[in-house]
Amino acid sequence: MAKLWTHKLSRRKLLAGAPVAAASIPILCPVRTGTAVPPHTGGHVPSDGGAHMGAAHLGAVGSVDPRVNGFDPHEILRDFDRGTVSRAGDRTVREWEIVAERAEIEVAPGVKFAAWTYNRRVPGPTLRAREGDRLRINIINAADHPHTMHFHGIHPAAHDGVPGLGPGNLEPGQSFTYEFDAEPFGFHHYHCHSTPLADHIAKGLYGAFVIDPKQGRPEADELVMVMNGFDTNFDRSNEVYAVNTVAFAYLNEPIRVKRGELVRIYLLNILEFDPLNSFHIHANFFDYHPTGTSLEPTELTDTISLAQGQRGILELRFPFTGRYMFHAHVSEFAELGWMGFFEVVD
Ligand code: CU
Ligand code: CU
Repeated sequence: MAKLWTHKLSRRKLLAGAPVAAASIPILCPVRTGTAVPPHTGGHVPSDGGAHMGAAHLGAVGSVDPRVNGFDPHEILRDFDRGTVSRAGDRTVREWEIVAERAEIEVAPGVKFAAWTYNRRVPGPTLRAREGDRLRINIINAADHPHTMHFHGIHPAAHDGVPGLGPGNLEPGQSFTYEFDAEPFGFHHYHCHSTPLADHIAKGLYGAFVIDPKQGRPEADELVMVMNGFDTNFDRSNEVYAVNTVAFAYLNEPIRVKRGELVRIYLLNILEFDPLNSFHIHANFFDYHPTGTSLEPTELTDTISLAQGQRGILELRFPFTGRYMFHAHVSEFAELGWMGFFEVVD
């Protein structure tokens, strides 16, 4: 069961057992983090036979230093950008400056990815507004390809961020202000809509977009989780899977939450090349609100599947302290980066 990638062979071919030279290939595998890595050829058995399982025996070799990327998956979790706020009559106006630009990012230890970004982050900033606010998103294309910014929501065609409508593609150096009202309340997202669409999304041009209901939601520890992946060898399948970009970030350093406190997760699937993604929590259940457009949950469950672009709001409380795993219930994704832990503390 080799879990690795290479510039010569696709991950799927590798998983099917194609011969491969193991030397110098970065590997995601169950080894103790922070220790010297033996040359792997597959069949990774911890030296102690896996006697004490936990983060130490799962995940990538080493971890990604957030300073290299200029963003930290742990900060992205709770980083909500409410824009520059002003008033127009009785209305709140929110304004954001977004720059589309290239950036090289590290998506797993030693694995660089030539990303296209909004504001040098993948995912881009989590924009947050209240239902009915007036929104102005000023974007400048500082990249070397045409890009747009397409929002999910309700708005006029000219502000839909699609080639051929309104300003259409923004050429390098061009700017535009998308302007519309925040509706409907829920959990949405934005992404580039230039063609080829799959590439513009897979390169990293997407972000989360929260519209709070007028009356708000109950106080909670709120977390944004954008499920994404990276095609590192241009074979139109992903070699690395993650939440908020860095493989195993929350395995290496679990997300700390308080016992008994309401935790609200804004969960988005923006994965390209795979039709489905999923989220599973261990030893707990959550209330699920599809697209976040209702205050009443539709389901109490521990696993949900999301197609591309689908998203929802999960609410849960942890009754016990300890370490609780969450991961894609697509096992292959989990092993290639999409798993983590909550650390529940008093
Ligand atoms: Cu684009
Ligand atoms: Cu979309």
